[in-house]
Order: sequence, then structure tokens, then C-alpha cells
Amino acid sequence: MDISARTVLIVGGTTGIGRGLAQRFLDAGSTVTVGGRNTEQVEGADGLETVRVDVTDPASILAARDEVLAKHPDLDLVVTMSGVMLTEDLRDPGHITQAETTIAVNLLGTIRVIDAFTPHLIGRGAGDIITVSSGIGFLPFPLMATYGASKAAVHSYTESLRAHLAGTGVGVTELIPPAVANAGQEKLNPNALPTGDFLDEVIGLLTRTPTPKEIVVERAASLRWAERDGTYAELLAARSQSLSNLPGR
Ligand SMILES: NC(=O)c1ccc[n+]([C@@H]2O[C@H](COP(=O)([O-])OP(=O)(O)OC[C@H]3O[C@@H](n4cnc5c(N)ncnc54)[C@H](OP(=O)(O)O)[C@@H]3O)[C@@H](O)[C@H]2O)c1
Repeated sequence: MDISARTVLIVGGTTGIGRGLAQRFLDAGSTVTVGGRNTEQVEGADGLETVRVDVTDPASILAARDEVLAKHPDLDLVVTMSGVMLTEDLRDPGHITQAETTIAVNLLGTIRVIDAFTPHLIGRGAGDIITVSSGIGFLPFPLMATYGASKAAVHSYTESLRAHLAGTGVGVTELIPPAVANAGQEKLNPNALPTGDFLDEVIGLLTRTPTPKEIVVERAASLRWAERDGTYAELLAARSQSLSNLPGR
């Protein structure tokens, strides 16, 4: 994928991985808009445009789409980066609040943002969608149960989306990050990959021709392929140890 002459929207690009990815596209010469609820976090960042959007609110997504397409009728890349990573204690039914938020943002938010832009991208006959799942979608981290379920769903949805869009000129790529050191992951996991190192590897893979259908950095490979490699049960048992951090366990 070319990253130097794109017109990009990264929904969920106001902080963390999305913000870093936005900078990489911008530095390479692309025009980049980042979306999120808290766009003030990005104000003043040279060259980055912003759009306010809450992916749990369908009207907000449509308003953001209209605003972005009015300014950038040549938009040709949409990244669905918005996500929340919430821990849950499944012994306490009160966890449903976290579960509902997780599904609303990570899964329904992803689907709604894609739906908002597919007519435009298909109409152009060229463009790309990048979805964002997680290594946890392939190998659960039981402390974040619904998070893992939402990302497994994003993976499955992405596979179907690619099939639906075949022949339209719109490519679909799935970014599968391992633990990356932001959004609290640096506290949960001391081995989380520094964001800059992660993005270096992502850009290296993303710019390959043809564009890989999945962007799996080296650190994510053991999660992505655990089932195939026969390491799933052992790794899941190790990752379940973190449940002992829950109160009363
Ligand atoms: N960090 C990791 O270890 C890791 C690992 C695997 C996958 N991922 C995935 O990578 C993506 C980015 O994560 P990150 O680590 O960079 O986390 P982050 O820094 O917390 O970024 C999350 C982004 O999502 C946006 N967002 C959250 N709720 C939203 C809502 N209701 N509407 C619109 N935007 C919303 C936030 O923007 P506002 O606050 O401005 O709304 C922010 O831009 C997520 O999908 C995450 O699940 C992360």
C-alpha cells in the first residue's frame, strides 16, 4: 500500500496507536484527519485535521462522514481504530456494563464507521479500509473477556467484509497489534511493545506489495498463530494467571 499520497481518516486517531499511525502517514506526505470524541487532544498538531465523532452514536458518525467528505471528496483510506480495553470480573454480573461499552465501541462502532464510508469508497472504485483487531482476539487474555470477544468478532467481520468488497477496488486489511505500551497496557504488561517500534514494523509490512491482508508484527505472531502452532492451551493457562489480581481471588 502506498502511504505517501493518500487521503486518510483514522477514527480513533486522537491518541495512542491511531495518533502515531496518523503521524506516519502525514510524514510520508498523505493528508490525514483523525477522529474521536476528544479532538482537543490533537489541536495544534501540525498538519493533522480533526473531526469530532463518537462511534457509539450513529448520528455522530454520519455527521462526521459528511464533514470529512465535504472537505475531502478524494478520501481513499478509512481506519477503524476506536477501541476501549476494559478489564472485567466475570464472577460479578455487574461486569455487563463494561461488556456493553466494549461491544458498542469496538464492534458496533467498527461496523457503523465502515457502513458510513463503503458507499463512498465503492463509488470511487478504489480505496482501502483498515480494521483493528488484536492478538487477544486470537488468544484470550481472560481479564479482558469481552474485549477479546469483540476483537475476535472484528477479525471475523473483516474476513467477511473482504469477501463482500472483492472486485470493487476497495481493499481490506486487518491490523492485529500485540500489547503496545499505551492506554494502560504498559502497566498491565511490562513487555508491551513501545509504540514507535510497533509502528516502524507496521509501516514496513503495510507498504509491501501486494498489501498483506493481515498486519502481524513479530510480537503478535505467537498470539495470531497459537492455535495452529499447538501452543494455545499452554499460553492461555499462563495468561489466566492475571486473574489472581482481581479482588477476592
Ligand atoms: N494498546 C494495545 O496494547 C492494543 C493491543 C491490541 C489492539 N489494540 C487496539 O488498537 C486500537 C487503539 O488502541 P490504543 O492502544 O491506541 O488505545 P487509546 O490510546 O486508548 O486509543 C483509543 C482511541 O479510540 C478512541 N475512542 C474510544 N472510544 C471512542 C468512541 N466512543 N468514539 C470514538 N472514538 C473513541 C479514542 O478517542 P477519544 O478518546 O478522543 O474518543 C482514541 O483515539 C484499539 O482498537 C485497541 O483495541 C491496542
